[in-house]
Amino acid sequence: MRCHTCAAPANVEIRRSRIAFCARCYPTWFRSRVQERIDHDRMFRREDRVLVAVSGGKDSLALWHALTRLGYRADGVYIRLGIGGYSRRSQEKCERFAEQHGLTLHQVDLEENEGFVVPDLRDARSGKPCAACGTVKRYHFNRVAADLGYEVVATGHNLDDEAATLFGNLVHWNVDYLGRQGPVLESTHPGLVRKVKPLYRLGERETAAYAIIERIDYILEECPMARGAKSLAYKAMLNSLEEQQPGTKYGFLVGFLKQGRAALPGAGADRAAGLRSCVRCGQPTTAEVCAYCRLAERGRRKRARSGSAAPDRLSRSGRAGPGPGAGRDAPHPGPDGGGGPRPAVVEPPARPSPSG
Ligand code: AMP
Ligand code: FES
Ligand code: ZN
Repeated sequence: MRCHTCAAPANVEIRRSRIAFCARCYPTWFRSRVQERIDHDRMFRREDRVLVAVSGGKDSLALWHALTRLGYRADGVYIRLGIGGYSRRSQEKCERFAEQHGLTLHQVDLEENEGFVVPDLRDARSGKPCAACGTVKRYHFNRVAADLGYEVVATGHNLDDEAATLFGNLVHWNVDYLGRQGPVLESTHPGLVRKVKPLYRLGERETAAYAIIERIDYILEECPMARGAKSLAYKAMLNSLEEQQPGTKYGFLVGFLKQGRAALPGAGADRAAGLRSCVRCGQPTTAEVCAYCRLAERGRRKRARSGSAAPDRLSRSGRAGPGPGAGRDAPHPGPDGGGGPRPAVVEPPARPSPSG
């Protein structure tokens, strides 16, 4: 195949669109897709300050890279989840990326500032903390953004993630979550910052190709706690359909967003009705004590009972190799992102001079 832009031999094929690009032209095409989604879905404006949630993986670092190349004012936030060596290695990737590109990275340290780590939140039945971890992350993304005055939080969710989440919500007929699944979650409360997913129409292979061509150093291993997660099974199933019929994932997700979602309650917005302030942390919630504060309490109790050695035992079990991400069994976020004591924003070290 030949490059769609310059007719040189192609390196990256976009099967669902039957086009391909050489390594020189591909990043420009990728960024143009990101820009097109930002504009078309009115995600944010040129003057907005964007907070990119970075995990150290290919998607979120590719997003941060693309946004800065497109000229947006984008800072990063990394949540130290305390999942042993896996967390330390992802933190390093984020810090190194920020340093190399002269960008600001905020960090929240769960262990130091909140008194628990994600492995303390294992569900009694499934043995997995993934759903709770999702709540914790969303809570802190929102909180850091609200406290530091960012207009919008951007995450690296890609087409594969979104199609798998949609499938999971359909399998379980989570009508409420289905209504709120989308690339833009509008703010419905001054304490809730708008959330966007600029990569939602780009596949995992496409973001990986961007990261490799742009020489982004990302973490290949997956979260060791996500093994056997249902979301991984959904992804595998969608991939096998995609293999036979390129474009299946795209059609499934985009078709739903265009045609299915409007019929569902609360389409595209964080819940507005009945929101009040959590009595512990003050964040918007529908309950007296928000979901995060309840989880944090549970985590601290667990930690007190078992001592603090658990996370490190995980450091040797990190699975290597690329593939779908982790922690996606959690349904789509509700307003209960969580609560807890004031956020633990570890400010970045002295900012190096910008280099691109
Ligand atoms: P996941 O929930 O692991 O599928 O990740 C989805 C998105 O959440 C990523 O693309 C990142 O934007 C963000 N994210 C995941 N983990 C972290 C983390 N530890 N700190 C900051 N952002 C994260
Ligand atoms: Fe949250 Fe793995 S459980 S990243
Ligand atoms: Zn709270």
